[in-house]
Amino acid sequence: MARLTIAIMSDIHAGERNGEWTHVLSEPPVARRGEQPLSDLTQLVEELQLQCDYLIAPGDIANQAEALGLSYGWRRAQALARQLQAKLIAVPGNHDVVSHSPASDPRALLKNLIPTFPTGDPALDDSFWAHGWAVIEEADHRFLLIDSTADFPPFPAHASEGDAEWEEYMTTVDRGGFPETMEDEIDAYLRSSTEKLNVAVVHHHPVEHQLRSYLHDGYGPMRRGSDLIDLLSRHPLAGRWIVIHGHKHIPQLVNAVSASSNGPLVMCAASLGAKLWSPVNTVTRNQFHFVDVIADSDPQTPSIVGTVRSFTWGYGEGWHLSERTGAGLPGTSGFGCAEDFRQVGDRLIQHMDTDALEFVSYEELTAAVPQLPYMLPRDFTHLEDHLEARGFMFTRDRQQQIVQLSRRT
Ligand SMILES: [Fe+2]
Repeated sequence: MARLTIAIMSDIHAGERNGEWTHVLSEPPVARRGEQPLSDLTQLVEELQLQCDYLIAPGDIANQAEALGLSYGWRRAQALARQLQAKLIAVPGNHDVVSHSPASDPRALLKNLIPTFPTGDPALDDSFWAHGWAVIEEADHRFLLIDSTADFPPFPAHASEGDAEWEEYMTTVDRGGFPETMEDEIDAYLRSSTEKLNVAVVHHHPVEHQLRSYLHDGYGPMRRGSDLIDLLSRHPLAGRWIVIHGHKHIPQLVNAVSASSNGPLVMCAASLGAKLWSPVNTVTRNQFHFVDVIADSDPQTPSIVGTVRSFTWGYGEGWHLSERTGAGLPGTSGFGCAEDFRQVGDRLIQHMDTDALEFVSYEELTAAVPQLPYMLPRDFTHLEDHLEARGFMFTRDRQQQIVQLSRRT
């Protein structure tokens, strides 16, 4: 069995200008409580005494490639990793590279960071910049880091805002891509890799967002994103994957469409610091995620499963365990359950009926049905509807955590 705890702070969007786009202004360095999500995170980690193996920053550390924002965001991320006793790893986002003006090297700001970007290991980071991808190999797990900005074309210096060339360029930057050469190189690497717990980190979205109607974008998923999903599906001897990405600012957990049950799970992380636009800001807010990923834990569960705790930030309130309403991830969610929610529901009811029980604790339910904590958020909603239609309901505590399943009277 392999097990990892991973904290995710995506799309920080740190900057010194443009307070209309971000909550994370690089001044003042120590904000008052409830005014700056990155500063408040230090207090959350201290209060809950959070620790983890890795802190992941899946891109857009800076807002609009601001040099001060990038160095500030990277320094704060390093400090948070130390506080969590975690190793920090990142990938570039479109806001971390100079994409809206001519630049001899659009990635120069990232390449000049100290400690080195994206892993702090200078040799590995050199290889990342040379190839657009890198792998961190440990005894029982591996991280695949992908630069989805690697195939950005040069800034069209002669285009003017709004014309066809400009629009095409902007779409390219918004979508990100997974070049064929990268696919071939990673394919050769995974062909001879042994089975481990696998996490891929990339900024752009390899699958279309399920809540696209909220997003008001017209550009669609990453170029060749389905090829990335297929690549990760086709080497079962290397193990199964979870992909963690940012960019969209509205979080979600989904199964990728794949020809195989070895297809990856995909987690879209929320934005930690961007001001969300209307009407999106009415359904979701800034979130920070704490993920527990487990591989091969139990013969009754699939090869990779996990649970996610999500915290929401509000101006003046700071961080709190997320609510169950809206389009963000709820306070507790999961991934990896391979069963239909109807099967899970019927097994829960069967457990109650066998001994004619009036209520059963959550601990006893998960012992009887080990897949229950690993249901996707959408499936969990369907499960509750299924149970309610049959006369059962979950009871929750003040933190909205499930305490028991009981018969409705
Ligand atoms: Fe982005």
